[in-house]
Amino acid sequence: MCGIIGVAKKTNTEEVLGMLKRLEYRGYDSFGIATDSVFEKEVGEIKPVQNSECNMAIAHTRWATHGSVTRENAHPHSDCSNKIFLVHNGIISNYQSLKAGLKGHVFKSETDTEVIAHFFEEKLKTMDIKEAVKEFFRAAAGEFAIVLMIKGDSNLYALKRGSPLSLGVTKDGNILASDIYAFSDKTQDAIFFHEDEFAIISKAGYEFYRMYDDLEPQKKEITKVEWSGTVEKKYDHYMIKEIYEQPEAIERLQLSLQSAQKEKLENLKEMIKQSKRTVFVASGTSYHATLLGVYFLNQAGVEAHTMIASEFQNFYLVDKDTLIIAVSQSGETMDVIEALHGMKGKGAKIASFVNVPYSTIQRMSNVSVNIEAGQEICVASTKAFTNQAVGLAYLASLFNGGMDFQKVTNSIKHIISQEQKIKEIAKTLKKKEDMYIIGRGFLYPVAREVALKVKEISYIHAEGMMGGELKHGTLALIEKDTPVIALVNGKTEIVSNAMEIKARGGRIIPFTNSDTTLGDPININAEDELSFALAATVAGQLLTYHIAREKNLPIDKPRNLAKSVTVK
Ligand code: G6P
Repeated sequence: MCGIIGVAKKTNTEEVLGMLKRLEYRGYDSFGIATDSVFEKEVGEIKPVQNSECNMAIAHTRWATHGSVTRENAHPHSDCSNKIFLVHNGIISNYQSLKAGLKGHVFKSETDTEVIAHFFEEKLKTMDIKEAVKEFFRAAAGEFAIVLMIKGDSNLYALKRGSPLSLGVTKDGNILASDIYAFSDKTQDAIFFHEDEFAIISKAGYEFYRMYDDLEPQKKEITKVEWSGTVEKKYDHYMIKEIYEQPEAIERLQLSLQSAQKEKLENLKEMIKQSKRTVFVASGTSYHATLLGVYFLNQAGVEAHTMIASEFQNFYLVDKDTLIIAVSQSGETMDVIEALHGMKGKGAKIASFVNVPYSTIQRMSNVSVNIEAGQEICVASTKAFTNQAVGLAYLASLFNGGMDFQKVTNSIKHIISQEQKIKEIAKTLKKKEDMYIIGRGFLYPVAREVALKVKEISYIHAEGMMGGELKHGTLALIEKDTPVIALVNGKTEIVSNAMEIKARGGRIIPFTNSDTTLGDPININAEDELSFALAATVAGQLLTYHIAREKNLPIDKPRNLAKSVTVK
């Protein structure tokens, strides 16, 4: 899983690495670049290399899958004679058997990717590039977006199966990239690769072929991409910028849902009515938003379920009367895409809520709602979660009459105004190793989401759970001063759960809208469930941000993670 770039135009290493930097959310373990004259790779985040002009380049930012984080395993990889260089996003799942067939080749890395370079080296001894590409499509299992650069050749060669790949068409040449953000400051003209497509790219043009039985030439449409959102950074971290942006992102979504996307929402409502059941599929934070979606739809009398994408097929049966709603910030999460492929095969209808326009999931959907959060850069999702939840609650409100967006934004602003107090609490938590977050009903998804934020950003083990489940095991872990955030919305049961923790010496940090003797609270000023849920989430986001600051952690790029997970 990684970000890849291929540039066929007069450029320089600085410009290429600038584009690569925009893909760093896909992984940042190591990076590398090869041009007609330079070949550099290094462990760690993208850093400048000596600037030099070139006519063609490939570059890569890595999230390690096969092979540890070392310079040898970083891309680009090359063949024995250092003539073929390539970058790859995806996994060649049968690389070991391919490798076994490549007798006499010397491998320098532990990666699946290097096998591709030697495969082409071998094939190009006896056939031309198109024949070799056909052989590769037939031989390789798994997912790949690959860009090949061959010394002395003025073309780049791009192959796609499973992993995303797009082409930016500019006045002075062409740019291949894992996603369109990489070239968003250079052109609005994009071409998306389909499954099993191969393209020959040069400064002057491009040819596309689709692998059916043979490579067949394809006509490709240019999509005019409209860019929204801004990537400038005025804050210490993107995370805090994106937390603060939430009220504004909700307002943007409201406007869009009630005007530009109104018809889409009505279609989606019809699709729900005509289906026997609605099932969400998502991963990570987006899954937590779907739990809220299920809650609000069920409240509105609509049967809804959700399942984590990577386990969908093991735990859920779908048929042609099922409506699937995929929820994804990136629109590229491989687990979600895989689950959708399976469901399409069974005749289910597909809808989605995504943040990144033109993404694979959006293009796979019969109806796709854009959540309008704007570009989110911090690996941990904040404003995208909020807008997913608002979008899903709005969908539910179409079944039971209206929702008040203003109340939600006011509640979030009220939390942001308590940041100093949250910062003080963060100081008291920075040395803790474990934390618990409890909630009931619509606050259970919030407990899960806050726990995930605490884990990924402040590196504290955290568990978010249903208040009622505590007594069935986890209570055994409560000791003196164990921190527990209790999401208390005035209901007696959750107060009792919190009291049970207090009675065992645990420290309760209440996030609440009611008077409580549980401890000094973070005050949630919310009149409805959605406002409470999102205000509590934002309080959790701020808390984890400040714990991580206290610990001096790499907030926007936490270790081992990536924003868009494009492997299974
Ligand atoms: C990764 C990210 C999470 C995200 C999850 C699902 O794990 O680090 O922040 O929630 O993928 O991504 P999606 O783009 O499908 O929402």
